[in-house]
Amino acid sequence: MVVYFTMLKGRSLLSLFDYSAEEIRFLLDSARQLKAEKQPQQRFVGKTLALLFEKRSTRTRCAFETAFGEEGGHPVFLSTADIQLGSKESIEDTARVLGRMFSAIQFRGFKQATVETLARYAGVPVYNGLTDDFHPTQALADLMTLEENIQQPRLLVFIGDGRNNVARSLTVICAKMGVNICIITPESLNPDPDFLARCQQIATKSRSTVSVTADLEAVHGADAIYTDVWASMGEESKKIERSSLLRPYQVNQALMDKTGRTDTIFLHCLPAIKGEEVTAEVIDGPQSRAWDEAENRKHTIKAVLAATLGV
Ligand code: CP
Ligand code: NVA
Repeated sequence: MVVYFTMLKGRSLLSLFDYSAEEIRFLLDSARQLKAEKQPQQRFVGKTLALLFEKRSTRTRCAFETAFGEEGGHPVFLSTADIQLGSKESIEDTARVLGRMFSAIQFRGFKQATVETLARYAGVPVYNGLTDDFHPTQALADLMTLEENIQQPRLLVFIGDGRNNVARSLTVICAKMGVNICIITPESLNPDPDFLARCQQIATKSRSTVSVTADLEAVHGADAIYTDVWASMGEESKKIERSSLLRPYQVNQALMDKTGRTDTIFLHCLPAIKGEEVTAEVIDGPQSRAWDEAENRKHTIKAVLAATLGV
């Protein structure tokens, strides 16, 4: 344990591409231990965390604030309505200033380049709390939840918008950790071919597969069915078009039954639009683990904070 804490100390989490399978395993195991603790241990006393938000959030903001605050740390929420980020002041200069005052920085927003620039200039760990490209802290909670329910997960199926941030981070984590992932999506929403090729190469090393199809029958045998909103934050103008394109890909009980298993679990990063990408019957039903998954955001984020702050 001590060895890996040292290895991750000072590191940012911008995408899971930067983390090895061993490092991800360590974070998942730490999160499981943190979840089992009866009382917080005051791990972050004297430390400060800047929480920068260009986009809205319930889970990510609350997970960072509670995980850090209950361990004695001081989180500070800063929306782009409050600070100069990228408008009057460059990202570089904001990073330099925040890095002088905070122990670490979380960023949620549009461009992946912004979180990467923050990390380059801050001199403290920077965490990606969601960008248009990736949602790495979500994928850690997703795998933790999958492993809590299925002993040796073999197949996760993501169904919906195959190129969104959640689908991409899931693909990276599954490829690294040896879980087969199948993305079911219409051809017009297929993941970027370069991204896919990179993940397929990683999957070869972990002896798993990354596949993409439009065929709903590919859910057969799945350990988990995962979906997300059809139009992500920033894509509000595409809502109507997506709704008709993705209607056949709704996760309803008939689709869950197509797995041929009764122990397949349902996952969703939330927030969910019931009646669109998932029916209420499924997300509020016995196969759903979406609420455990939401709770696990806090434990996995606490594991990332503890490891990278070296406490
Ligand atoms: N899953 C997730 O990131 O939720 P929020 O947008 O509420 O943070
Ligand atoms: N793909 C969604 C995830 C929300 C947690 C979005 O970016 O809006």
